[in-house]
Amino acid sequence: MIIAILLVREDSMKITVIGVGLVGATTADCFRRFGHIVSCVDVDGERLDELAKEGFQVSPEPENADFHFVCTPAASVDEVLARLRGVTGLPVIRSTVTPGTTKHLMEAHGTHICCNPEFVRAATALQDGLNPWRVVIGECCPTHGKLLAEL
Ligand SMILES: NC(=O)c1ccc[n+]([C@@H]2O[C@H](COP(=O)([O-])OP(=O)(O)OC[C@H]3O[C@@H](n4cnc5c(N)ncnc54)[C@H](O)[C@@H]3O)[C@@H](O)[C@H]2O)c1
Ligand SMILES: [Zn+2]
Repeated sequence: MIIAILLVREDSMKITVIGVGLVGATTADCFRRFGHIVSCVDVDGERLDELAKEGFQVSPEPENADFHFVCTPAASVDEVLARLRGVTGLPVIRSTVTPGTTKHLMEAHGTHICCNPEFVRAATALQDGLNPWRVVIGECCPTHGKLLAEL
């Protein structure tokens, strides 16, 4: 029998991870290990079922949170931001996007967005995620950049 003990810290943040493939699942796993409340969102219902079996909260749609980490393929990021309209929380793009994309998306969706690119290697994703060799934050404003840096 496997007993999973998940510790939630007092200053825990509510985080949705949208697109839970390699990068998203690693992001979700790391934040959960650090004691945050994580919900996984994906268009692939089978993927959500797999993650639910691993004890993750899953949802087909993003709900109100402190942060939304967008980890989909780049082509889906615009659509995900459209779905985040009316949902509270700071969108953070973790997908690999071309320079200028975040600025363009902020204008298109009339919202603040930060950028926090992922550098994990597929073979050692969890170790890399827990011990990143660098953390890069692209901030829309100092307030949100500071919030993200604290997280
Ligand atoms: N794989 C890597 O080593 C790596 C490293 C750094 C950055 N990246 C970048 O991170 C991003 C994700 O890469 P990955 O390897 O995790 O991809 P992946 O294909 O493993 O996972 C993407 C997930 O997003 C889901 N998805 C697609 N469209 C969606 C939508 N509209 N709404 C919700 N979910 C949606 C898919 O169902 C899938 O589960 C890409 O931009 C990639 O370039 C990848
Ligand atoms: Zn901002």
